[in-house]
Amino acid sequence: MEILTPTANVKNLAVRCGWTTCLNDVTFNLYPGEFCALIGPSGSGKSVLFEALLGFHRVSAGSLSKSTKAIGLVPQKDELHDNISPKEALKINAYLRGIRQEKERAVQSILRQVDLLDHQHKPIRKLSGGQKKRVSIALELLSSSKLLLLDEPCASLDPQLELQQMQLFRELTSQGRSILISTHKTHNLHFCHCLLVIYCGVSIFYGTPEQAVEHFHVKQISEIYGQLKKRAVRDWLSSYHTFERSHKFLSRSPPPPQLKPPPTSKKTSKAKNILKRIENANT
Ligand SMILES: Nc1ncnc2c1ncn2[C@@H]1O[C@H](COP(=O)(O)OP(=O)(O)OP(=O)(O)O)[C@@H](O)[C@H]1O
Ligand SMILES: [Mg+2]
Repeated sequence: MEILTPTANVKNLAVRCGWTTCLNDVTFNLYPGEFCALIGPSGSGKSVLFEALLGFHRVSAGSLSKSTKAIGLVPQKDELHDNISPKEALKINAYLRGIRQEKERAVQSILRQVDLLDHQHKPIRKLSGGQKKRVSIALELLSSSKLLLLDEPCASLDPQLELQQMQLFRELTSQGRSILISTHKTHNLHFCHCLLVIYCGVSIFYGTPEQAVEHFHVKQISEIYGQLKKRAVRDWLSSYHTFERSHKFLSRSPPPPQLKPPPTSKKTSKAKNILKRIENANT
């Protein structure tokens, strides 16, 4: 039987940012084809964990390994050029990523996936917060990254769009990507294969969303937040170790990936013109 390598394998990870220990003890593994959500109170270390996965922090203890360098990030704060439209942004991105063939079709398909067809020609500065967030997501969907990290991708989405995005992330994993999102929106976490709960820089649970509800003795995942302060971090960690000993989630069988080939290339000059316009706008 083939042994699948995790896309990301993190064991007892500790990370310091300057004098502050931001991550204390984080353990999880994410396989190709898995969609995982990272939850935990504000300041618990979710964004720092993403930065660590991207290699921005030195590992002070434990280990962090990745099977790929093709990692995409949708940051918590959008970093977009305001003067161009979503469609132009995607075309430039496609050009920079070397996507030439069927570029128009790829761009339209992604605009449809993130529900931005109606706004594709507006300057990004005129879009709402949720629409801008979807542009950021669309830009990363163009890439063929094997590991996609999205830091609060649903933060400014209305409930219907949030549902659509979560469905889309789940669908994308069927192409073999690994997707890790951080979120405070807990309604649609049943779309995830796994849930990582982080508290004060410590991973205090890693299992399925259904197992999380049982483990924290709650009716729904949102109630986990209220439970956390009731016990010390070390107590949560010790009950998680008991859970892991009986469920062996870390040695689970991952879903079999069904890889689709990424779009390939043909030369274009229009994207170059758009790039020039951005440069001109910025000078
Ligand atoms: N560059 C840094 N230098 C020092 N401390 C930092 C740095 N970046 C983050 N921290 C600290 O690390 C902790 C975790 O921060 P992080 O941004 O990862 O939280 P978070 O879980 O993403 O919170 P939120 O849900 O609000 O986005 C916080 O206490 C924060 O102040
Ligand atoms: Mg954050």
